[in-house]
Amino acid sequence: MTDARIPTVRLGTDGPEVGVQGLGCMGMNFGYGPTDAGQARAALDRALELGVTLYDTADAYGAGENERFLSPFFKAHRDEVVIATKFALSIPPDDPTKRIIRNDAPYIREAVEASLKRLDVDVIDLYYMHRRDVNVPIEETVGTMAELVREGKVKHLGLSEVTADELRAAHAVHPIAAVQSEWSLFSRDIEARVVPAARDLGVALVPYSPLGRGFLTGSFTNAEQDLTPDDFRRQQPRFTGENAAANAALLEPIRAIAEARGATLGQIALAWAQQRASVAGLPVVPIPGTRKPGRVEENVAATRITLTEDELATLEPIASRVSGDRYPDMRFASAGRE
Ligand SMILES: NC(=O)c1ccc[n+]([C@@H]2O[C@H](COP(=O)([O-])OP(=O)(O)OC[C@H]3O[C@@H](n4cnc5c(N)ncnc54)[C@H](OP(=O)(O)O)[C@@H]3O)[C@@H](O)[C@H]2O)c1
Repeated sequence: MTDARIPTVRLGTDGPEVGVQGLGCMGMNFGYGPTDAGQARAALDRALELGVTLYDTADAYGAGENERFLSPFFKAHRDEVVIATKFALSIPPDDPTKRIIRNDAPYIREAVEASLKRLDVDVIDLYYMHRRDVNVPIEETVGTMAELVREGKVKHLGLSEVTADELRAAHAVHPIAAVQSEWSLFSRDIEARVVPAARDLGVALVPYSPLGRGFLTGSFTNAEQDLTPDDFRRQQPRFTGENAAANAALLEPIRAIAEARGATLGQIALAWAQQRASVAGLPVVPIPGTRKPGRVEENVAATRITLTEDELATLEPIASRVSGDRYPDMRFASAGRE
């Protein structure tokens, strides 16, 4: 592994310039089982050394704890990092395990102030609507987000898991720099409508869970058997029971390509996601999540892999064969509303 920094790409027409791979920080203290804070901090440092500049968090990750955890790193490197966080998943006071989707102006205003405070910064570089509340017109939500830009609280806007129509309507109100949606060898539903809309509008795609939440690395094959009880992947239909067994078999062609190249499965999955930029004709910045510095190195090294046409053809049918949805309730994803 050399220490050469990865190339950069611009998010949207006037968004920030970022390294072509970002870092998903959610698992550093939320959602994916036991963590080691020291390792997670080392992962952040290593990523920055390698040219990773886009760091992804959300207010909902650990009810603000993820933002708090990242704050010292962000403050120490304020001019080198692009901080992306999100609002929309509110936690009802009577049940901290639940999430209510809120896109209304009073909620957004409350959320941005809380994120700024936890992050302890003056401005958020990229502020995403995390989930869509269909009871609030998207124009109204993005109108409020645009006010935050004018007030200097936020620099650029993003949307997560929006449909193509929602993206178009939003972009007409204020330029959207990036759409963040699940996109991987296992999850390609956004290619039908969202990706072409983003390309037409000049909006970048930030694929989340590009490693299929870790499943594409082969590090677990059945969430109920392999992961701890607090790990939320146990609730995802494709990682349990018969679905998990069928889906594990789909890793074989990925494994064969990885072995032939002396690469890992995860690197092939990330190279595939990255290559969507040239295939689909728009900027793509995957944000694999890891809390281990060695895995940051491995994942960043995937930016130097270019898959051949034959390899791409081998990988092409995998997503259509995946058993089980990516969420227990697909209304949570854009595909459930398209
Ligand atoms: N907008 C949204 O709704 C949304 C939803 C989900 C996630 N996200 C964002 O996207 C980021 C990435 O998604 P994700 O974390 O869900 O899934 P992911 O990046 O597909 O996979 C993360 C999992 O893979 C493991 N992993 C990472 N690199 C590895 C490697 N080289 N070898 C083996 N295992 C490896 C990680 O474990 P270790 O950490 O132990 O390495 C973790 O369990 C999140 O951190 C979050 O910021 C956004």
